Amino acid sequence: MDILLLRLLHIGAGAFWVGAVFTFFLFVQPAAVAVGPDAQKFTYQLLHHRRFPAVVLAAASVTVLAGILLLIITSNGLDPDRLFDSSRLGYTVGGVVAIVTFGIGALYVVPRTSTVERTIGRLLAESRPPTPDEQQLLGGIARESRRAGWVVLLGLVVATLAMATARYWSLFL
Ligand code: HEM
Repeated sequence: MDILLLRLLHIGAGAFWVGAVFTFFLFVQPAAVAVGPDAQKFTYQLLHHRRFPAVVLAAASVTVLAGILLLIITSNGLDPDRLFDSSRLGYTVGGVVAIVTFGIGALYVVPRTSTVERTIGRLLAESRPPTPDEQQLLGGIARESRRAGWVVLLGLVVATLAMATARYWSLFL
């Protein structure tokens, strides 16, 4: 029963995490950049009022925590013979890649998103365009986030592929 609940939490939250990150980086962010300063209210609404980064971070945390518990349970307490057996290796590889990807998102992308949120919030509250310094800050963060976004997307693709195919790895290894 525990494992069923953990699987529901793990796969449900994982589907949301991957879908949200893909939709944001491939559709929402490029659309906001294309619209330019007119998109500021939309971006602030998404980041501040709808709390998009916090919700995605929460879903990612649930996925990782439930995944770690599943890994501990299904490998008899992280027994290396089970972790690296071809019948379980896909879950171990996918899990490690997903945890690294989570770290990049939580420690690199989310703090930058918070800076964007605070800066745009100030601009909207004071009804003024960005100063040259603020413009440089926002431009720099946009470039850094796009680069990190590709790494996160790649990590999520690899982790999802490994998880989805893990039970068949023993047929080929
Ligand atoms: C991108 C993030 C992730 C996604 C989309 C994801 C998705 C999935 C899916 C769809 C399954 C079911 C596969 C099957 O039944 O054969 C699964 C199982 C599993 N996942 Fe993940 N996962 C992710 C991250 C993680 C992490 C971070 C860990 C642990 C460190 C983990 C550990 C496991 C384990 C141990 C199972 C097997 C559970 C069992 O045997 O009942 N996953 N995952």
